[in-house]
Amino acid sequence: MTATSDRSHPNPVASRHEHGRLTCGSLRVDDAGRSVTLRGWVNRRRDLGGLIFVDLRDRYGITQVVFNPQVVPAAHEVASRVRGEFVLEITGTVRPRPEGTANPNLATGEIEVEASAVAVLNEAKTPPFYINEEVEVDEALRLQYRYLDLRRPGMQSNVLLRHRLVKRMRDYLDARGFCEVETPCLIKSTPEGARDFLVPSSAHPGTFYALPQSPQQMKQLLMVAGLDRYFQIARCFRDEAQRADRQPEFTQLDLEMSFVGQDDVMALMEALYVELVKEHGGKRIQEVPFPRLTYADAMARFGSDRPDLRFGLEIQDVGPALAGTGFKAFATVLEAGGQVKAIVATGCGSYSRREIDGLTEIAKRAGAKGLATIAVESNGVRSPIAKFLREQEQQALTSDIGASPGDLVLLVADEAATVAKVLSALRTELGTALGLGDPSVLAFCWVTEFPLLEWDEDGSRWDATHNPFSGYLPEDEPLLDTDPGSVRALQYDLVANGAELGGGSVRLHRRAEQERIFALMGYDRSAMADRFGALLDALEYGAPPHGGIAMGVDRLVALLTDAPSIRDVIAFPKSQRGIDMMFDAPSAVDQTQLEELGLSVAVPSSNSTNP
Ligand code: AMO
Ligand code: AMP
Repeated sequence: MTATSDRSHPNPVASRHEHGRLTCGSLRVDDAGRSVTLRGWVNRRRDLGGLIFVDLRDRYGITQVVFNPQVVPAAHEVASRVRGEFVLEITGTVRPRPEGTANPNLATGEIEVEASAVAVLNEAKTPPFYINEEVEVDEALRLQYRYLDLRRPGMQSNVLLRHRLVKRMRDYLDARGFCEVETPCLIKSTPEGARDFLVPSSAHPGTFYALPQSPQQMKQLLMVAGLDRYFQIARCFRDEAQRADRQPEFTQLDLEMSFVGQDDVMALMEALYVELVKEHGGKRIQEVPFPRLTYADAMARFGSDRPDLRFGLEIQDVGPALAGTGFKAFATVLEAGGQVKAIVATGCGSYSRREIDGLTEIAKRAGAKGLATIAVESNGVRSPIAKFLREQEQQALTSDIGASPGDLVLLVADEAATVAKVLSALRTELGTALGLGDPSVLAFCWVTEFPLLEWDEDGSRWDATHNPFSGYLPEDEPLLDTDPGSVRALQYDLVANGAELGGGSVRLHRRAEQERIFALMGYDRSAMADRFGALLDALEYGAPPHGGIAMGVDRLVALLTDAPSIRDVIAFPKSQRGIDMMFDAPSAVDQTQLEELGLSVAVPSSNSTNP
């Protein structure tokens, strides 16, 4: 009778009566004979000339309602005029569906409601896209009519999952003595590497609050306050280039603990994430405890500090085997202190010219000067560089690194950072092309021992790789004077399937240590006092040793739901260009508003609303 299915419905096995309420998902065959009232949206109406069937939908499911012109002519007449997305209240009697017409795809599929009355609570225009079918819809349209997009089962499922995950986080931390504290959104800037969003103050014209890039300084101050275990589902604001996994405002599970080392924080998060994956129920974790890699290891083996560990294709160093090589491109790089590294692309030995050109293009986009390839065949090799290589070198670049007939070796020669970037991009590409990343598997890992500082060429100063409050390995302390770039931070990132899910560190908790880092970063005393005065002062009033972490909530939900972008797991996200397509923000403001703030605008206002 009907093809309606609620397989994709957020709550297909919705509890029978949601908190005692009757819903469009709750009726079953043993309710037969009950008189019920249901409210919801018209998912579909079918007019069979005589009988009219209306599938009524709400968050909990779909119920079939039948209008019989012989029995209830007035209600039938109303039903003949309703269209998709009208809001109805129907009253009727539950009865089993006739023999052979049950719908096994629907939780309520064995019953229907024979209507005795219907009221149209509201009409609806024809929506700009289908609500009742999971079809691809242009994202600009979805964002413009987000309330309709959110009415779709797939989006409802994302919103509800997010709710359950966040509730699980709160319960988990509450059970372990953590206290949720709200920290302000109007603050003074805390640097996390992005540009601040500024909010002008009318009470103090010419001055600005900054929206927090994270609650970093506040949570450290809560440790000084003796709160001991803090967390917050915190909104963060960063004015930076948007990407699929970046929004200008996003949510962190932010936490901080006193008297801990990095193992304590990692163990706490690891057990939570195992629970969260269970709560979602659809994926398997590759390895518990989560493997740990140092930053140096991750870069050497995968060329990335957020490697996808669902597959191998590890990077191998062939530099040593090429000492004194006659191949000019490699020899020049090695003499200049660079690297030659390889990936064995298993089973890609028969790649066509075009496929290899495709890989070369990816390599070049990642900064490579060239990509050398060696196809291993049963009776030798096929390679544009074979003629430059001695027999022994050919072996070093093939069988010695595990390449067998049928495989393709990819070689890149350049300075270390470029080699890493290029081979990481190729590894990711091959992982996708060869279908190596099982979408039902989550390969979590911790990356530790990040460099504390990196040299900023433009500013001629050291900059923090993560945040400037991170501590460092005690044994590396002397290097702060001699070789700051090789000091390892007490910093840990949680990574899964190639995405950075979170990161944190054990902090500096003594003023002198913190000032030493700020000094390396080029701050003089007055700049330190201006930007970090409150925190530095607090460190002198009995600041306990402390550390913490912040986990990206949007990224976690996106990972669990296989969402192509975090926009799909945020109720009201900005477009890829940072625009709120529904309210049309950001937008120009009235002249009077500007005058009250003592501001004038120098750029012509743009009213482009492309996503
Ligand atoms: P960090 O800057 O690494 O650390 O951020 C922590 C996590 O937040 C998520 N994230 C984002 N998600 C969506 N859109 C963005 N623009 C965005 N930026 C970051 C990522 C990231 O891993 N205060 C420190 C944490 C600490 O040291 O405790 C911080 O904010 O998942
Ligand atoms: P050439 O000697 O420039 O003609 O290069 C011969 C082969 O070596 C070509 O396949 C190039 O793509 C490759 N090649 C050149 N430079 C590099 C490099 N830095 N790393 C890897 N392959 C390279």
